[in-house]
Amino acid sequence: MKRIYILILAATLIFTGCKKEGNTSSSGSDRYDARVDSLLSIMTLEEKIGQLTLFTSDYDVTGPTIREGYKDDIKAGKVGAIFNAFGADYTRKLQEIAVKETRLHIPLLFGYDVVHGHRTIFPIPLGESSSWDLGIMEQSARIAAEEASAEGLHWTFAPMCDIARDPRWGRMAEGAGEDTYLGSRIAEARVKGFQGKGIGELNSVLACVKHFAAYGAAQAGRDYHTTDMSDRVLREVYLPPYKAAVDAGAATVMTSFNELDGIPATGNKYLMTDILRKEWNFTGFVVTDYTSIMELIPHGIAEDTASAAALALEAGVDMDMQAGFYNDALEKLVKDGKLKESLIDDAVRRILKKKFELGLFEDPYRYSNAEREKATVMKKEFLDAARDGARKSIVLLKNEQNVLPLSKNTKRIAVIGPLANARKEMIGSWSAAGDWTKAVTLLEGIKAAVSPATQVLYAKGCNINDDTTQYIAQAVQVAKQADVVVLSIGEAALMTGEAASRTSLNLPGVQQQLVEAIQKTGKPVVVVLSNGRPLTINWIDKNIPAIVETWFLGTQAGYAMADVLFGDYNPSAKLTVTFPRAIGQVPIYYSMKNTGRPMDANNKYTSKYLDESNEALYPFGYGLSYTTFSYGDVILSNKQISQQDELTVACKVTNTGKLAGEEVVQLYIRDMVGSVTRPVKELKNFQKILLQPGESKDISFTLTQHDLSFFRKDMSFGVEPGKFEVYVGGNSRDVKTAGFVLQ
Ligand code: GLC
Repeated sequence: MKRIYILILAATLIFTGCKKEGNTSSSGSDRYDARVDSLLSIMTLEEKIGQLTLFTSDYDVTGPTIREGYKDDIKAGKVGAIFNAFGADYTRKLQEIAVKETRLHIPLLFGYDVVHGHRTIFPIPLGESSSWDLGIMEQSARIAAEEASAEGLHWTFAPMCDIARDPRWGRMAEGAGEDTYLGSRIAEARVKGFQGKGIGELNSVLACVKHFAAYGAAQAGRDYHTTDMSDRVLREVYLPPYKAAVDAGAATVMTSFNELDGIPATGNKYLMTDILRKEWNFTGFVVTDYTSIMELIPHGIAEDTASAAALALEAGVDMDMQAGFYNDALEKLVKDGKLKESLIDDAVRRILKKKFELGLFEDPYRYSNAEREKATVMKKEFLDAARDGARKSIVLLKNEQNVLPLSKNTKRIAVIGPLANARKEMIGSWSAAGDWTKAVTLLEGIKAAVSPATQVLYAKGCNINDDTTQYIAQAVQVAKQADVVVLSIGEAALMTGEAASRTSLNLPGVQQQLVEAIQKTGKPVVVVLSNGRPLTINWIDKNIPAIVETWFLGTQAGYAMADVLFGDYNPSAKLTVTFPRAIGQVPIYYSMKNTGRPMDANNKYTSKYLDESNEALYPFGYGLSYTTFSYGDVILSNKQISQQDELTVACKVTNTGKLAGEEVVQLYIRDMVGSVTRPVKELKNFQKILLQPGESKDISFTLTQHDLSFFRKDMSFGVEPGKFEVYVGGNSRDVKTAGFVLQ
C-alpha cells in the first residue's frame, strides 16, 4: 500500500510540478531538482540505466552497428533517447511507445546531426566560418533549430568545435578552421543559434559541444587516430572553443573517439570531470560518440564490456550512444558492489533535468506537431538566408585581368566540370535531413542569372574521382565555342566529413588534366572550387586568372555562386584554414612558432625545405574583393602599458576601388619574449566592415590583459612583461605593425 501511495505522490509531483519545499520560488536549472529527485526515487536500477542509453533509429545510421528491435527496447524502458529519427509523425509514434507503454512514462529525447541546417541546408561549417560573420552563423543555427524542433527534434549534435590544422583530416570541413580565437567566437554563436532564447522554447534545441576533446589533432590527419600533446597546447589551442561553447550555455557535450595522452576521451576523467565539470562548472550531460564506449576495448584500455562501461561512467560520461554497454553491464556492476549506484543517479539526474527543461513531462508531444512542421520547413525566408549566408562564404582567391565579375550579357558562357551540375554534392557532408534534390547547381544558378541572349554551354569534362578521360576532348570543343569558361572542379561531398582522410590534397581523378586542357584553349577561365578542405592547386594559381573557393554551399549553392560570379554580391569571405603549397608542409598554420633558426633563404642551416618554400599558397585570413582596400599606420594609445591597462589599437581602412565592398579587418599580436615561446602571430579580434568606394573608416580595437595572457611556464594563465608587436591587416600575412611594452 505504501509503495502505491509513494507512486501516486511522486507521479503527481513529477507531472504537475510544484515548488521545492521551503523554496517558494526557484528559478534557473534547479527549479526541477525536486521533480527529478521524486522521479529518481521511484525508478528501478534498470529504468535508471535505460535513461543512460541512446540508440539510433533505423534511419541513415552513421556507424558500424544498428541494434535490432529498438522499439522493443523503448517499451522495456531500456532507452532514454533515440537519434536519427525525425518528423512530427514518426517522433510522435516513438514517443507514444515511451509515454504510454512504459511503467513510468518517461519521454524520450530525440537527437540528430543538425550541423549546417536541417532541411534548408547552409554552407558546410568550414565554408560558413569563412564569412567571419558571427551574425549569419548564429542565424543559420537558429533556422536549423526552427526546422529541427518543428520536426520533433529536441537535440542537435552540434556545434563541432574541433580546431583542425591538418587538411588530410576530412572532418576539417565540419568545424571553424585552424584558429582558437575565431573558433571560440564561432562556437558561441552557433550555441546561441541552436538554443535561442533558452531550452524549453518551442523553437530551441539542446546544443552538443563536440568532439571533446582535441579530435582534430589526429596524427597524420587519419580519422580516429591518436592525439597526443602537452597540457599547454591542449589548453592554449584546442580547449578554448569547447569552453566558449560551454560558457555560452551549451546543454550537452559529446566525447571524442580519439585518445588523449594515452587515455581515450570516453574514459578520460581528466577531460570529462576535472576540466569539464570541476574547472568549467558544466552542469549538462555528456554523451559518447557512436559506440565509443565499446571502442575502449580496441583502444586497449578496457578488456570487456563491464570494464569499459565502468571506466566511462566513472570518467563522467552520462549517456551511451549506440554501444549498449551501459544497458548490458551497469546493473550487475552495481549489484556486485563494483560500482556506486550514486554515479548512475547523478547521470540520470542530469539527463532527466534536460527532459524537464524541454517541457517534455508537461507535454511529451510538444515538438511533434505536423501543422507546425508543414508551416516551418524550407520557408522562403530560410532559403533567402541560406543564399545570403552562402554567398558570404565564398572566398575570392584570385582575380587577374579583371575576369570577374562576368557580364550577364556575355554572348556564350561555357560551364564545364564534374561539379558544375552535381546537385547531390552541393549540400556537402553531414547534411542531415537536407533534400539534395532541392539543391541548386552552379549550371542552374548561371542560367538563372544571365540575360536571355546569353548562350550557356555545358560539358562535364570528367568525373570527380576516376581516371575516365574520354569526355575531356568534348569539353575542350565546348570551351572553344565560348567567350569565357567557368570551370567547376573539386571534391565529392563525402571526400570530406567523417572517415574521409586523404593522403593527397591534389584535385582528385583526372581533373587536373581537364583544367590544363581547357586552359590550353586560351579562353578566359574562372575556376570555381567545390571542396571541403584546402587543396594544393599550385598549377591553377599560377596559370588560371580567376579562382573562387565555394566549399559546399548548401541548398542555394548555385544562386549564391552566380551572385558572386556576376557581381550581384561582392565577395567578402576570408580563409579560416591555411592552404598549403604541398602536403609535405602539413601541418601548416599561421600561428606557428619562430624556432631558433627561422627561415633565411641565404643560410642553409635554417628551418626550411629543399623542395618548397615555407609559405602558404594562401594564408589564414586571406580573401580578395572586387574592390581594393588600403590600411593606414597602426596607432596605439600608448607605447607602454601597465598590467592594469587596456590598449587601444587604431587603423584607418580605405576602400580604394570603384565598388562597395566588405573587409574583415584582423587584429593579431605577438609576444616577443616569454617564459615559454610564443606564436609569431595570434588573432585577437576582427571586425567586418562595409566601405563605399573611396570611403575610409577609423577602425579601433581594445586589447585587454586577457588578450595578452597565456599559459606561462608554470601553467598559470596570465601576462608577462615585455615587448609586443601588434598587427592589423586583411589577412595574417599582409599587415601593418606597431609595438608596445607591457611593464
Ligand atoms: C558520428 C560522429 C558524430 C555524430 C555521431 C552521431 O560517428 O562522429 O559527430 O554526431 O556519430 O551521428
